[in-house]
Amino acid sequence: MKTFLVTGGAGFIGSNYIRYMLKKYDDIHIINLDKLTYAGNLDNLRDIENDARYEFVKGDICDEEVVNRLTQRADVVVNFAAESHVDRSIGRPDDFIRTDVFGTFVLLEAARKHGVEKFIQISTDEVYGSIEDGSFKETDPLMPSSPYSASKAGADRLAFSYFVTYGLPVIITRCSNNFGPYQYPEKLIPLFVTNALEDKPLPIYGDGKNVRDWIYVEDHCDAIDFLYHNGTDGEVYNIGAGNERNNLEITEIILRELNKPKSLMTFVKDRLGHDRRYSLDCTKIRNMGWQPSHSFDEAMHDTIQWYVQNRWWWEKLKSGEYLEFYKSNYQMAL
Ligand code: NAD
Ligand code: DAU
Repeated sequence: MKTFLVTGGAGFIGSNYIRYMLKKYDDIHIINLDKLTYAGNLDNLRDIENDARYEFVKGDICDEEVVNRLTQRADVVVNFAAESHVDRSIGRPDDFIRTDVFGTFVLLEAARKHGVEKFIQISTDEVYGSIEDGSFKETDPLMPSSPYSASKAGADRLAFSYFVTYGLPVIITRCSNNFGPYQYPEKLIPLFVTNALEDKPLPIYGDGKNVRDWIYVEDHCDAIDFLYHNGTDGEVYNIGAGNERNNLEITEIILRELNKPKSLMTFVKDRLGHDRRYSLDCTKIRNMGWQPSHSFDEAMHDTIQWYVQNRWWWEKLKSGEYLEFYKSNYQMAL
């Protein structure tokens, strides 16, 4: 039996990953270390919280004591913990540098000390920066353009340095934009779906033509597990599903699915340093035999319907600090 230390497991992708792993494997133990920031939410794990194979520890990946105590018990570390929202990194980068860079350092040091079997660093496609034409390969230079993506690039290369310098068995994944259930409603898709359900404006940055490559979160989780079994230490792997859409297209899908008027579309001031297009060349992982198993259209339908049916989950999140952030970010009240 393997013990996985999953950091940031109370967030969007981490919670989906824990659920995916518990469903797939009987002989597994998962420790979820999460600080429960505004983005961490134990409701994301309500259905599995009493599973004997799962344990939750509230703590900070920057805290050497807790990280050492838990890493000592782990065979595998999967580091999802991060400050993850680009807009918040523009307003206040401090926590991004602290958690995404220093926190990853603390985890890497503990992994080295206790000799884990595998360290999976969940990086992001944003480390490459924006690309007008073509797609980024794993060997392309990193040109991150927001404090968020720069902090993730720092962690990405720091993890690599622990492979080169200390021989730590590190694998680095760079995935494109995820969507699915339990995504905090500050990100494009859950924000627009929940605003539309409340007949509130959908704030589109700039001209709405920025392009993202969308992947259903379960496919991302599946790819991480595939790479745990089949990846080579020290290697970087792009993960994407080849679903490039601009933000206007995403908005129209949401409005159509919910039967809401286009008049909800509201153009607002552009995000500072807004990357125009992300695009990944995923030949490397495809040639190893991995491919996504969900169609974009079906996964979008299921995701939108999940938010329709789970108002209990998101309604209470849109209060307090969320409303303050919203007002200062969009220059309008929700
Ligand atoms: P999220 O913001 O939903 O979740 C982040 C989680 O980390 C939260 O539960 C939060 O409480 C926790 N956390 C934050 N700081 C912590 C700290 N110091 N110690 C312990 N826990 C802490 O983010 P997400 O969208 O689920 O992203 C997860 C990871 O995947 C991140 O590393 C992100 O960079 C990466 N990623 C995200 C996407 C995407 O589209 N969302 C795509 C590629 C990669
Ligand atoms: O590419 C992977 C990255 O995807 C992850 O590493 C990040 O953690 C994750 O947050 C996401 O970053 P993006 O900036 O691409 O995601 P976001 O949902 O914030 O925005 C998607 C696009 O939608 C982007 O072009 C900005 C635009 N947008 C977003 C919001 C929140 C709007 O037009 N209006 C909005 O209100």
